[in-house]
Amino acid sequence: MEVTRTVKGLRARTAAARATRRAVGFVPTMGFFHEGHLSLMRRARDERGFVVASIFVNPLQFGPSEDLGSYPRDLDRDLALAEAEEVDLVFAPEVDEMYPGGLPETAVDPGPIGERLEGAARPGHFRGVATVVAKLFHFVGPSAAYFGEKDAQQLAMIRRMVRHLSFPVDVVGCPIIREPDGLALSSRNVYLSSEERAAATCLYRALREASALVDGGERDAKALAARMAEVVEAEPLAELDYATVVGDELFEEIGQIEGSARALVAARVGKPRLIDNVRFAG
Ligand code: PAJ
Repeated sequence: MEVTRTVKGLRARTAAARATRRAVGFVPTMGFFHEGHLSLMRRARDERGFVVASIFVNPLQFGPSEDLGSYPRDLDRDLALAEAEEVDLVFAPEVDEMYPGGLPETAVDPGPIGERLEGAARPGHFRGVATVVAKLFHFVGPSAAYFGEKDAQQLAMIRRMVRHLSFPVDVVGCPIIREPDGLALSSRNVYLSSEERAAATCLYRALREASALVDGGERDAKALAARMAEVVEAEPLAELDYATVVGDELFEEIGQIEGSARALVAARVGKPRLIDNVRFAG
């Protein structure tokens, strides 16, 4: 496995891979790998000839009161894990390499999907994600890019950006990897105390309840959201941010589940703010 710290190195190696007819698979991350990240690398390895992972904690997508400074990092461990997944190249730039001359004034506008839910809770977040992912796509070039459904709104936003701005990238959505008790894996789970860790399963329990209601014929989005809110609010260590059911492409509010929809929950449990979701097929 090769590691490059430079954009020049990344461009040269992905171009060389394509020149030898190896299709490029790309896994963008902020590092501190867990099984969720590794599942994306495995999928890329199965499907593509040359696998690139990027590790970059993107300052542009963190708000002023968020955890940019304390976001967990361990590059050596990440490199060993990526190597074990047979990743061909890791791109791990410094901030100056990604943003020479300081944070950019020019940015990608994610449109209305970027304003809702996570976008409302974290103003500027999706603009920062869209901008860094657009830059990474420019460096990597034609490829398939692998994203987790864990961050379903991010995935939907990137699908739209790729379509609207004609990036030569196939976006591949991958299933959420969970702990045995249902908690979705997240780099931020390391912040949970043992009591909070137990309480954190309330997000998944809420989504399970909603799924059971949908299986039983419930179609009313408000009723499903109310039930999910009840489950989270019954957990004293959790502070609900939102529980809702939205359309799966635009993440807009819906009255009734008709086509494809998604139930989403966000809550603070101790220090970290956790998110989780489940899709209802149309
Ligand atoms: P990060 O939070 O490191 O996540 C990298 C990728 O791993 C994302 O596509 C995310 O959805 C996926 N992922 C995280 N937890 C997962 C889980 N439990 N199961 C499956 N996939 C999971 O998302 C980002 O970084 C950044 O916003 C980024 C896209 C890299 C732009 O900076």
